[in-house]
Amino acid sequence: MKTLVLVFHPNIAASRVNRRLAEKMEKQTGVTVHRVYEAYPNEIIDVAAEQRLLEQHDRIVLQFPFYWYSSPSLLKKWEDAVLTYGWAYGTKGDKLHGKELLIAVSTGAAKENYSHNGNFKYTVPELLRPFQATSSLIGTRYLTPYILHSVMQNLPDEELEQNTRDYVAYVLNPELKPLAVR
Ligand SMILES: Cc1cc2nc3c(=O)[nH]c(=O)nc-3n(C[C@H](O)[C@H](O)[C@H](O)COP(=O)(O)O)c2cc1C
Repeated sequence: MKTLVLVFHPNIAASRVNRRLAEKMEKQTGVTVHRVYEAYPNEIIDVAAEQRLLEQHDRIVLQFPFYWYSSPSLLKKWEDAVLTYGWAYGTKGDKLHGKELLIAVSTGAAKENYSHNGNFKYTVPELLRPFQATSSLIGTRYLTPYILHSVMQNLPDEELEQNTRDYVAYVLNPELKPLAVR
């Protein structure tokens, strides 16, 4: 299985969590890490290059910090540009069919906020629904998202290292289950 990790972080130099996750991930066999903000500092996306990368891999991971209950803005721009009609969806748009899509997100806030009775009222998988709907449209298997919570609350180094190992194991697990559509 070939895995592509697309990292969307607008300031990876200032990142603690996503930088560590990406560094660890790129040491793994069969994994390509692509830092999209760094690839396109002017945000002009090379659509053909991105589509080629996607076609060459079986499991596509979108890794990003949660920003305003969503993704950093370049991911939206990337979707708008790369997931084209006739390629990703629509007549003959089958290039991603059968691949797997995994969202890997870090949140600043603690897990208990992300519940129906918590401060934010919604769970993270609920807030990620546009990705789930997109996955359905482009014919990918939407795997259960990987969520790393509380990263703003001074996550100790050892815990971050354990989380990093857990993340790698999760992403490389060939048996990951799709998230049920409810
Ligand atoms: C513009 C912005 C918006 C953010 N919005 C959220 C949010 O909606 N929910 C949340 O839990 N954390 C939010 N955060 C915190 C980030 O998710 C957190 O700092 C990030 O996951 C840490 O990862 P990093 O070390 O790789 O930057 C936000 C941070 C920024 C800068």
